[in-house]
Amino acid sequence: MLDNNFENKDGILYIGGVSVEKLKDKYQTPLYIFDQKSLKNRTKAFVDNFKSLKFDTEVVYATKAFSNLYVLSLLNNYNILFDCVSKEEIFVCLKAGVDSSRIHFHGNNKSKDELEYAIDKNIGLIIIDSVDEYYLLDSILNEKNKKIDVLIRINPDVKTDTHKFIQTSNADSKFGLNIRDKNTKIFISKSLKNKNMHILGFHAHIGSQVKNLDFFKEEAKIMLKYMKEIEEDNSYKFSHINLGGGFGTKERIEDRDLDIEVFLKDYIKTIENLLVYYKINIKNVGIEPGRSLISKSGSMLYTIGSTKKTLEGFPLIFVDGGMSDNIRPSLYDAKYSSILANKLNNEANIIYRVGGKLCESGDILIDEVKLPKVERDDLLLIPYSGAYTYSMASNYNKQRKAAVVFVEDGCDYLAVRRESLDDLISRDEIYKGEINERI
Ligand code: LLP
Repeated sequence: MLDNNFENKDGILYIGGVSVEKLKDKYQTPLYIFDQKSLKNRTKAFVDNFKSLKFDTEVVYATKAFSNLYVLSLLNNYNILFDCVSKEEIFVCLKAGVDSSRIHFHGNNKSKDELEYAIDKNIGLIIIDSVDEYYLLDSILNEKNKKIDVLIRINPDVKTDTHKFIQTSNADSKFGLNIRDKNTKIFISKSLKNKNMHILGFHAHIGSQVKNLDFFKEEAKIMLKYMKEIEEDNSYKFSHINLGGGFGTKERIEDRDLDIEVFLKDYIKTIENLLVYYKINIKNVGIEPGRSLISKSGSMLYTIGSTKKTLEGFPLIFVDGGMSDNIRPSLYDAKYSSILANKLNNEANIIYRVGGKLCESGDILIDEVKLPKVERDDLLLIPYSGAYTYSMASNYNKQRKAAVVFVEDGCDYLAVRRESLDDLISRDEIYKGEINERI
């Protein structure tokens, strides 16, 4: 049941050679734990396998999946780039030591302030999401007398089979310019003549947690065919295409894992063949993994508190966190699994429901999971939960955001400390008006 991220030593779970009991004592729970070696291997696997002899390749990490100084400065040792969708994400990348030329700037509503910031910082590439944004960017570039490289984001109209909230390629999607809209071609032709922007090519991203990998091949085919049409219509040669991220990964222990090596090699072959077929001489092909790069190495450790039987449904066990540290089950109906990390040798023979401690009926982390008999203070681990958990965490019910720790070869490294009680009110002001008596 356990894979190579984890070890069972006398019934206690070790991650990266460190016991979860030790981590709980040192950092308390809830705790985000990242297996550093597994992340390094995964990143290297992306860089090594998304390679071609025919063109340059770029792996652009979608930092929204999990971003802080520690992880970004670690990833910055690899040959990858960084996708940001806000001034704030760019700021964190720069503070982590990322060279601005290695940052790509995305987003469907970049403000004037954000665009100016990106231009002043000499961000490597801006991905234009709308016609409106194009004019805003153009006016800023005119004012500043600067030129930049851009990609235009196209919605390729690939209908994926994932949760509606993580689809981005529907006709009503808020992202990009729809490939079926004839105005898109007219706009592109116009933009190719712009003196301030060098249009390197196109970007597309069909959605997230897409497990059927054929959708990515369909996307590549649609995008390259479109690129060829535009090249011919405008006697123009594009140099870049970025096909986005969204590669689905396992969330439960029993799910099949994405074989990243096999997938990337196959994907590159598909792209190479399409380039020959459409006679396109592109120089650079990029992808933007977020979840598939970070998710597997991350786990969430909780301590179990109360348990309860309800009139219907499986018995509930409550953990000391919940939707404030992982909103994905309530937001997307995401399905996770868990293990009783301090009783690995006990037989899992009871089906439980795992609830959080937040005041919301929807604060259920796992609907149904088989575990050994659970007692107060047992440790529950939710593996494969590194993506979009910490980055979507909230202070709901004034929960303090949990600490993040990395582990490798028996050592643990604090990446982000747990918020303190004082952190919770550090930006608040007390009412200073006078009231002489209670009303
Ligand atoms: N590129 C673009 C332009 C994106 O919008 C995204 C994700 C990615 C790349 C990375 O996608 P990934 O490889 O991580 O699937 N909060 C949701 C996911 C939202 C993804 C938003 N965009 C979740 O928890 O599932």
